Amino acid sequence: MSDAPDRPFTVIAIDGPAGSGKSTVGRRLAATLGLDYLDTGAMYRGVTFAALRRNIDPADTDVVARLAEQVELDLQDGTLIVDGVDATIEIRGPEVTRAVSLVAANPAVRKELVRRQREWAEARNGGVLEGRDIGSVVFPDAALKVYLTASPEVRAERRSKEVTDLDYETVAADIARRDAADQGRDDSPLAQAEGALVVDTSDRDVDEIVADLVARLS
Ligand code: DC
Repeated sequence: MSDAPDRPFTVIAIDGPAGSGKSTVGRRLAATLGLDYLDTGAMYRGVTFAALRRNIDPADTDVVARLAEQVELDLQDGTLIVDGVDATIEIRGPEVTRAVSLVAANPAVRKELVRRQREWAEARNGGVLEGRDIGSVVFPDAALKVYLTASPEVRAERRSKEVTDLDYETVAADIARRDAADQGRDDSPLAQAEGALVVDTSDRDVDEIVADLVARLS
């Protein structure tokens, strides 16, 4: 955990669709500023992993909601331990990826994970949080709100490099399906937060983007 006792409570909210560069930019920005980093998508994936492992139907709203309240999610340095089981690899796999939009559309799951995200930031006097609703719902008063975008081709290209066992077409179709689900759900849909700085990362260097964001913060 970083400690910056003199710093006022500082949250940086990074939102955007899959493959827009949130993790790369978010991690680099957090390291530059000496803040902790939270990948909130991994939390939704962790609940999904826990449901599949217990043979719970991700569409069973009440059971999944209860599970979200009970499940232990330990996210540290890019690893995720779910109820004592290392889920780091599996949460990026096709089964979790297929089911996660359904779990993320469950309002009771969102309520519980948003509570945990706020608690996480309060415990460390801020941090860099990335997701879909950070600037719009979780921390609408964040010191800096960023909405990252990139062309669908660039996003699919990036994701297919991450998930080596799937081809470009499969990944592109999956991204399009998840974009539609994330943008179309009733509770906290993916949208540009009011006052968010919109950055297209398609052709830009990470260091340049991070330097730009740091400059806006001071
Ligand atoms: O960023 P990701 O692909 O790992 O996110 C996984 C899913 O969780 C994705 O379908 C969107 C959803 N999500 C969300 O609804 N709200 C967040 N704050 C983060 C992710």
